Amino acid sequence: MLSRPRRLRTSQAMRDLVADVSLEPQNLILPLFVKEGIDQPQPVPTMPGVVQHSEQSILSALDEAIAVGLKAVMIFAVPLERDATGSVACQTDGILNRVIRNARAHAGDSLVLIADLCLDEFTDHGHCGVLDASGAVDNDATVSLYCQMAVELGRAGADLLGTSGMMDGQVGHIRVALDQAGLVSTGVLAYAAKFASGFYGPFRQAVESQFAGDRKGYQQDYRRTRESELEIRQDISEGADIVMVKPALAYLDIVRAAAEISEVPVAAYLVSGEYAMVEAAAAAGVLDRDAAIFEMLYALRRAGAQLICTYWALEFARKIAR
Ligand code: PBG
Repeated sequence: MLSRPRRLRTSQAMRDLVADVSLEPQNLILPLFVKEGIDQPQPVPTMPGVVQHSEQSILSALDEAIAVGLKAVMIFAVPLERDATGSVACQTDGILNRVIRNARAHAGDSLVLIADLCLDEFTDHGHCGVLDASGAVDNDATVSLYCQMAVELGRAGADLLGTSGMMDGQVGHIRVALDQAGLVSTGVLAYAAKFASGFYGPFRQAVESQFAGDRKGYQQDYRRTRESELEIRQDISEGADIVMVKPALAYLDIVRAAAEISEVPVAAYLVSGEYAMVEAAAAAGVLDRDAAIFEMLYALRRAGAQLICTYWALEFARKIAR
């Protein structure tokens, strides 16, 4: 027996020596929720450990993120008022724009601020865009609202806009709108391959979405293998600065495909349902929580994700640093 692969597994030092995948705090992006009109953080029942922040407490969360070595947070806002067109999203002093402005003033350049750019948190029907007469999401009308929202968020100080709505042409139109407003340094983190998924349930509770139904008319169908490559190439050609695959665990093949074809950094979003699933199993005593989470994070790195958007970012950045 010439080859004995076990020789390279004999000690922790040996295993560390030959490991070729790493996980560092800068690989992790922390999603944060902020709710208008509360003065204390409120737990999200379906996501143990996750809260809706107040406008004040989110600033402390930024300090914590910086302290553990994270480089980016992704901010989602829960407004008090919703309407058919999600008009608060485009108001200069609307909740998300206001929070980004305050976060920028608070954190300076020590943290990359990513703002969610989508209307679902702002519409009373919960869809990611505005509806046409038949009740379907109107792609082009939605994209023009995204452009207005993009300019507001860019002016407020967002570094990157997380385009999570899956409208056709959104990245290119937003890029042009930003440039015309002089916001040439505001970038786009494109949710390039985002699937209509059963794993978003807890998130919808976190943003108190009024949504009933599905998003299959605009998010991808998981029965198609190669469509993601089209979405990714298209977003890159429209000017995306980073491309993201979402969800993550059930889509490792897509993460790998993205890493192979993309010249820009690839991110993967370990979504709320994936988080809740592990937390529930751990709470039931059926798996070793930390071991399972590390294994998932490394799996994403191995598949080719440079960045991982995860609700465990703060806690696991701390564990890595230790
Ligand atoms: C839509 C959006 C969703 C998530 C992030 N952005 C929900 C959806 O598409 O229905 C889900 C994130 C998660 O589940 O963690 N703006």
